[in-house]
Amino acid sequence: MRFGVLGTGRITRRLVADLQSTPDVSVTMIGSRDATRAAWSGAEYGIARAVAGYEQVLRDSEVDAVYVALPPSLHAQWCIAAAQAGKHVLCEKPLAIDHAEAVAIDQACRDAGVRWLDATAWLHHERTTRLREWVSDGTIGKLRHISVAISFFEPFQHGDHRLDPRLGGGCVLDLGWYAAGCAIAAAGAPRRAQATTLLRDGVAFRCTAILWFDGDVTATVHCGYDTATRKWMEWAGDQASVVCDDFSRPWPDRPPRVWIHNRAGEVQSHAFSGSQERNLIAKLASDEPLESFHLQALRTQATVEAMIASSQTGAVETIRCE
Ligand SMILES: NC(=O)c1ccc[n+]([C@@H]2O[C@H](COP(=O)([O-])OP(=O)(O)OC[C@H]3O[C@@H](n4cnc5c(N)ncnc54)[C@H](OP(=O)(O)O)[C@@H]3O)[C@@H](O)[C@H]2O)c1
Repeated sequence: MRFGVLGTGRITRRLVADLQSTPDVSVTMIGSRDATRAAWSGAEYGIARAVAGYEQVLRDSEVDAVYVALPPSLHAQWCIAAAQAGKHVLCEKPLAIDHAEAVAIDQACRDAGVRWLDATAWLHHERTTRLREWVSDGTIGKLRHISVAISFFEPFQHGDHRLDPRLGGGCVLDLGWYAAGCAIAAAGAPRRAQATTLLRDGVAFRCTAILWFDGDVTATVHCGYDTATRKWMEWAGDQASVVCDDFSRPWPDRPPRVWIHNRAGEVQSHAFSGSQERNLIAKLASDEPLESFHLQALRTQATVEAMIASSQTGAVETIRCE
């Protein structure tokens, strides 16, 4: 699968290296709004062709798939345009601004007969597969409650899209995507959400939410930009709980780990290996069915939308995603 890349931001640098190191995948072209930036990025990342604008990438015969690494408000427009140009789509998270846009991306890809995934790489780690098995095979007993916290503290660059509501800024879309998605990966579709946010200059800086699922399963999720980096989760059952301190992206200096704490107070530690990003890319480039990932993305989008709505209304919002 030969990729064309839209956008030259921070995540592009990282993901291009993952694309280039995935077997049978290459990056043939990069597009930027700015010709100089395109040329600089092409040279820096070892991409042979660099062009001004994004349209040309979509039209190119040496591009099979498009990686959309733009601010969230531009995802739907460019994912749909890529699909309509007959290209497979890898879209950065959050998939879109709201559930209607996410459904439109899914529909455009179905209509065009192309494959799509959102770049929520942790879902593709072998550790995540094991975590889900421990829920389905009875290891943790009956799932009762999920806790997730994801945050980072970083001075933002001037003009960062995370601080601009018009570009899809705010921690709920940006990090709530991981937090809600983590609960959904364990428990399926949530039915209701209630959330509260703290705003700075009209942008959500911190969010705490409760999610309710069928079968009396609940989740508390937290995300924000004003605490040090956290990316931990607990999936708690009546027999044991699984705990992970870096579920969204393993800490760089140690193997990805997870702990099972059982009722007797015993603790098992498990370590994993492998690159979640390369797994994600290989999945898109394969013939494997992607429906479960589409469902996960659409549920996550609807949940984040309900969290945003609840933080504005103060009400418990019903989540309608299927
Ligand atoms: N999967 C992950 O772990 C991960 C991590 C970080 C971010 N992300 C996601 O990746 C996406 C991009 O994030 P990023 O941190 O790479 O952002 P960024 O550094 O701000 O880069 C975004 C790029 O989009 C292009 N762009 C087009 N229109 C723009 C506009 N109106 N304002 C700003 N940029 C615009 C720019 O490239 P040109 O001007 O050169 O075209 C810019 O470099 C977001 O959806 C974010 O949530 C994912």
